[in-house]
This record gives sequence, structure tokens and C-alpha cells, in this order.
Amino acid sequence: MAKIIIEGGHRLHGTVRIGGAKNAVLPILAASILASSGTSVIEEVPSLLDAEYMAATIASLGADVRRKPGQVMVNATNLREVEPPHELVRQMRASFVVAGPLLARTGEAVIAMPGGCNIGPRPVDLHIKGLEAMGAQARIENGCVHFVAPKGGLHGARIYLDIPSVGATQNIMMAACLARGQTVIENAAKEPENVDLANYLNAMGARVRGAGTDTIRIEGVRELHGANHSVIPDRIEAGTFLIAGAVAGDGVYVENAVSQHLSSLLAKLEEAGAEIVDDVRGIHIWPIPTRRIRALDVKTHYHPAYPTDLQAPMMAALCVAEGTSTITETVFENRFKHAGELQRMGAEIHIEGRTAIVEGIERLSGAEVTATDLRAGAALVIAGLVADGLTTVSGLHHIDRGYENLVGKFQALGARIRRIEQDRVPRSSSVAVV
Ligand code: EPZ
Repeated sequence: MAKIIIEGGHRLHGTVRIGGAKNAVLPILAASILASSGTSVIEEVPSLLDAEYMAATIASLGADVRRKPGQVMVNATNLREVEPPHELVRQMRASFVVAGPLLARTGEAVIAMPGGCNIGPRPVDLHIKGLEAMGAQARIENGCVHFVAPKGGLHGARIYLDIPSVGATQNIMMAACLARGQTVIENAAKEPENVDLANYLNAMGARVRGAGTDTIRIEGVRELHGANHSVIPDRIEAGTFLIAGAVAGDGVYVENAVSQHLSSLLAKLEEAGAEIVDDVRGIHIWPIPTRRIRALDVKTHYHPAYPTDLQAPMMAALCVAEGTSTITETVFENRFKHAGELQRMGAEIHIEGRTAIVEGIERLSGAEVTATDLRAGAALVIAGLVADGLTTVSGLHHIDRGYENLVGKFQALGARIRRIEQDRVPRSSSVAVV
């Protein structure tokens, strides 16, 4: 079983370059099957398990998918299936956003319901409600949702989302591109990844307006064609390195980070005492002279509020802050599982419902810990950087889903970190990691 080993106490400095956004690539690959002619060339595609799952999913439908490092080409002229393999879809909740484009393109889609998740129940009722409003019949059987479009295809609708769901906004937006008439999505998710998706759809010939605001208007068109698109940088990867730079860095430059996508995080890091300088090419983060960040009160919410995906990395940093912090998770019901792993490293965390109270201590102590989800994995690596001795992180399949070359990027910043592919972990803390 693969593990990451970190020897704490080594400061970070230098430059790390951020890759393309996982949470933009996934819906964009799903959207590529809307094109009935031409080839899409998607650039800045990170090498991640989730991107491979999505590429395999659209290929299983008949799309011609070709991959090069950093690039995926898709020609979806000859779609011939309406039911991607369940085992593929169940690997990744994000696969459910294939439903909207597949239904709009072929008139039918049979998609396995996403399984439960480590961060709480994640229903798809808003996805179904939105597609039904556009005329689809939806039937749940054998763990799948079977969508059928009416004769003549989907029609436009005005849809209010009870929750600004990222995935539901994407599914409805994509389906609406080929629906008859106008669709209006109200209380839409405003994440930058949805803006990137809308830009790609418009390059394909769609007519999407208002992405990034809470009201999106889509005028349906008869057909779409392939287009070239370069995916935006991954703001969550960027935020992960910025948090690491605040708590364990002596000057880290996060190249290719877009500060406008991270304003809530940057405000919090400045409140914690870090100095942030952003230039056109990226963001510099300088720690405060005392080298201990100040305690914070953080509340996750929908974009542009503080992102839930950076809740775990921030909790790891606040474990060694000066003072008592509170972290309130409002987006997911059960996204504090990493607290237990941080407590194994000596963190003083107390959970009260949706709020974690974190008493900052000088240093954590290295331990063997397990990633409980993708962002928890990154949090445990950050914790290892500021812990005495060796920290061993397992559960790396979570990390591999969403971070490309996390170990290599931290090594380049001076961290004493390495990955081993079998259970050969030095027992003594005196053993050098690299
Ligand atoms: C996207 O998930 C991201 N994943 C998540 O990132 C991110 O945490 C989340 O948005 C919130 O920002 C991708 O983009 C691939 P939601 P998604 O639908 O679309 C409830 C990561 O680490 N809900 O916005 O699944 C749901 O239960 C991942 O990269 C319904 O009730 O999130 C949740 O409580 C983790 N009914 C809330 O809305 C629905 O039909 C937000 O979910 C849909 C969602």
C-alpha cells in the first residue's frame, strides 16, 4: 500500500506551478459529448485519476478520446451508447454530470446513482428536478436514474435551485444548450469552474450568459461543434499550497494561481498574519516574522465564500496557530473526519455539530495517519510539515484523484517528503526521509 512520509520541521521556499482545475476538467469533458461534429482539444488537463475516469466514461459512450500529456482530444460525432458502465460512474460522483449532455444529445441517459461519500450524503435530487423541468422523464431503478427526453427533445424552463449546487448547475446548463427555447437557472452556483464550463460551451456554439452570477440564461441551439479550450488553474490546489506556505513557508510563490478565484482564502490568510503579494503570473505568500499564524474564525459556504474544499487544509494549519480558532462547515454534513486523524498528531480539536473548535499548539507530533477524503489527504501532508518527527500518510488513492504530483511539488519547495509504494516505513524517527 502506497504511503507518503514527511519529516517535519523543514521550511518551504521557492516556486510551485499550479495545474489545470480538476473541477473544471470533469464537466468540460462531459460537455464535449454535446458536439455532433468536429473535435475538441482540451489543454491544461491535469494527470489525475478523476480525469481518467471521466475520459473513460465518455469513451464508453462512443466518443473518440485521445490523450497526450496535458491534453485530451474528443470527437463525439458517433455517440452510440446511453448507459456508461456502472462501475465507472460509481467511482466518481462527478460522473453524474454526464446525464445532462447525454440526454440532450441522444434523448436518453441511464446513469448510476453516485454512491455515498466520505463527506456526507450527496443526493442528486436537484439534478433530476432540473432535467424534469425541461421535459425529461426520470425513473429510478436498479440504482440508476433512467432519463428519457420527450419527442422533439428537451424544452427551456425557468429553474430555481434550492441549493446553489455546482453539479446540478452544470448538468442543467449543459442540457439547456440543445433544448428548444430559453432556460433560466436561478440561485445557480457561481464557482469559477462553472464560468470556465460556460466559456467552453460558448466556444462550441452555445449561447450561455450570466455564468458566475446567480442567474444563468441559456438560449438553446440546434447543434454544437468541437472547440479548443484551455482549462483554468486549479484554485483548490493553489489554495492548498498557499495555506502550506503560510504555516510552514519562508517565501513561497504559487505560479499560475488566479487571485480573483481565491479572494476569500487570501483575506483569511492575511487576517492570520501572512503577507500576500499577487502579480500577473501568480501569488507570493510570506509568513509573519513570528512564524506562527494567528487563530481564525472560518465558515465555509458557496462561492465566493470560503470554499469547503479548503476547510481541511486550513484546519491543519490552525492546529498550530496562536490562539483558538473555529471552523464551521455549512456545505457538507460530515466533512470533519480529518479531525480525528489530526488529533492522533496531538491536535486539540473539539467538534460541536457543524463547528470545530481548534486550540492552537506549538507543534504537532508525527504519527501514522490515513486520508479520509481527497482534501483531508492534503491536510495531513500539511500537518506533517509542521509536526515533530515522521508522519506517514496512507489512503493515497484519495490524494491521487485530485492532486497531480503533490509529493514532487512539495519536494521542490524544500519539504523532506517522499512516497513509497509498499509498506516499508522506517520505524525510527532518526531515519532520514530522503
Ligand atoms: C462540487 O461537488 C465539487 N466537485 C466538490 O469538490 C465541492 O466540494 C462541491 O462542488 C461544493 O463546492 C466537483 O466539482 C467534481 P454540490 P458537487 O452539488 O457538485 C447538496 C473536491 O474535493 N446537493 O455543490 O457534488 C449536496 O449534498 C470535491 O474536489 C443536494 O442536496 O457539490 C451538498 O450538501 C469534493 N442535492 C451541497 O448540495 C443535489 O441534487 C453542495 O453540493 C445536489 C447537491
